[in-house]
Amino acid sequence: MAMEPYDTFEYDVLVVGAGGAGLRAVIAAREAGCSVGVVCKSLLGKAHTVMAEGGVAAALSNMRNPDGGSEGDSWKTHFADTLKGGAYLNNWRTVEIFAKEAPERVLELEQYGAVFDRTPEGLIAQRPFGGHKYRRLNHVGDRTGLELIRTMQDKAVGVGMNIHMEVTLTRLLMDGDRVIGAFGYYRETGRFVIFKAKAVVLATGGWGRMYMYTSNSWEGTGDGLMMGYEAGAELLDMEMIQFHPTGMIWPPGMRGILVTEGVRGEGGFLKNSKGERFMFTPEYTPERYKGQFAETPEEGMKWLDDKKANRRPPELLPRDEVARAIYKEILAGRGTEHGGVYLDVSHRGADYIKRKLPSMYEQFHELGDIDITKQPMEVFPTIHYTMGGIKTEPETCSTTVKGLFAAGEVAAGLHGANRLGGNSLSDIIVFGKRAGEGAAQFALNHSHGTLDAAQLDDEIDLLLSPLESTRGENPYTVHTELQETMQKNAMIARTEEGLKEALAKVLELQERAVHLKVEGDRCYNPGWHAARDVRFMLKASEIIVRCALDRKESRGAQWRLDYPDKDDAYWGKHNLIASDNGGEVKVEPRRLPEMPEELKQVLAEQG
Ligand code: FUM
Repeated sequence: MAMEPYDTFEYDVLVVGAGGAGLRAVIAAREAGCSVGVVCKSLLGKAHTVMAEGGVAAALSNMRNPDGGSEGDSWKTHFADTLKGGAYLNNWRTVEIFAKEAPERVLELEQYGAVFDRTPEGLIAQRPFGGHKYRRLNHVGDRTGLELIRTMQDKAVGVGMNIHMEVTLTRLLMDGDRVIGAFGYYRETGRFVIFKAKAVVLATGGWGRMYMYTSNSWEGTGDGLMMGYEAGAELLDMEMIQFHPTGMIWPPGMRGILVTEGVRGEGGFLKNSKGERFMFTPEYTPERYKGQFAETPEEGMKWLDDKKANRRPPELLPRDEVARAIYKEILAGRGTEHGGVYLDVSHRGADYIKRKLPSMYEQFHELGDIDITKQPMEVFPTIHYTMGGIKTEPETCSTTVKGLFAAGEVAAGLHGANRLGGNSLSDIIVFGKRAGEGAAQFALNHSHGTLDAAQLDDEIDLLLSPLESTRGENPYTVHTELQETMQKNAMIARTEEGLKEALAKVLELQERAVHLKVEGDRCYNPGWHAARDVRFMLKASEIIVRCALDRKESRGAQWRLDYPDKDDAYWGKHNLIASDNGGEVKVEPRRLPEMPEELKQVLAEQG
């Protein structure tokens, strides 16, 4: 086909995504002396990072005196908690780097200008979160992600980045087996654009939009994940999708919006329709956590009031456990009028709530006409995070494709089968930096590749076909049907039957999506954008479902009703890897790297 004119930009390092991981990569690559371009699908500052509200996890050990403090915390405890929370599917080396470097990265944020809440002694204040043994969530009220983005944005502008906003990238450009840039279009005009780069960092976040109820915004369609996959990158743990226990369920238009774990961290209760704090039901606390959590509501109350009590209430179990318990309560007929459970923090008093949870107060007041200082909230698990993603090597965040690096939610390995709250923000600052440095080193040692423009033809044909075709499916219809099947069959509780139904539906939708039809032209045309997005989501959904079918056990976020137990002997030792095998999805188990003796020792000491 005849090529139309397009803009071309050239950088040493191209960063795709301007959330926390992308911005931290920009800063690192600039400090290493590289020219850096950053592309974001939306506007600068609008990233899923802001949805990590309650804090950034790092073992600063600042809470010396207050209730159940964090004195005694260390990288070792954070390391052990993260592995335990991830049901030991995590890459131990990634977790080791993470736990050791997170405190330094948080303090660096402060040097960049982040304004954290304070202890009376003037240290960064820390709050408890699910699965963290100590108070470890360094926070700015319930707006921590927002502060992190604000700070790093300022810093990245200061070090000099070239930002390209409202650009959707749809394909990585290759020179043989090496990535040499990316291709896409301006969302406003539809005009095509090429970015040539010596190294590319994917920092595009997660992909919750194939589900009906999610905390993810419209950008979360898996573009970066799928561009990496199509370029040959291996994917890891794709079956592991995090259901944050508390999303809004009422009013209907607000379904899925996040209710921060900070509410439970500040003492919020979960209750069923009978008024029972159901998390105290012994079956909801798995064996490996027994003894660490309060066993009665009275003991749980002590944790709020008594400075010496240190057994947290089980509302602060890891997210996978709490989400499952909520789901079981609802199935047992103890749900609320609108199909959720209650989350009540009103006993903390209006002043406290407005000071520590100002966004939650506003959110419920504005969106639901609910005063959380007086009334309980209604909540239900919402798709929040994707633990799986592009397989990266821990030291430099390189992928299995030359010249391609990945960091943050799009990358996999750190969180295993379930992420602990607050570990997302420390993930993006630790590995955003490493990815930026890794990409910079690669760029400094390579020249630009040679672009064979013929490789653009397929992508341009694919992009233009919905506008040029005379008939075909509406992309929104395909997307809605995809969301329905994923929500019904690949959600929190999974079975072989349901997953097979989902797979059949996803494959049918893929067939139908070969012929999409969109009215209008390329200017300001969301329908046209949806056509490309849905193709990415369909492929990502196929991979999620295939991996969930293959993992025949329950572990972390993967809860198989037909395989309710963990299989430590086999599945505890293997990740599932997905790769593109000539257009077919290939899924294979791969043995986890063996943990060295000194880290096994750390785990044993931490109990
Ligand atoms: O609940 C929250 O504030 C979310 C935090 C996170 O996902 O890390």
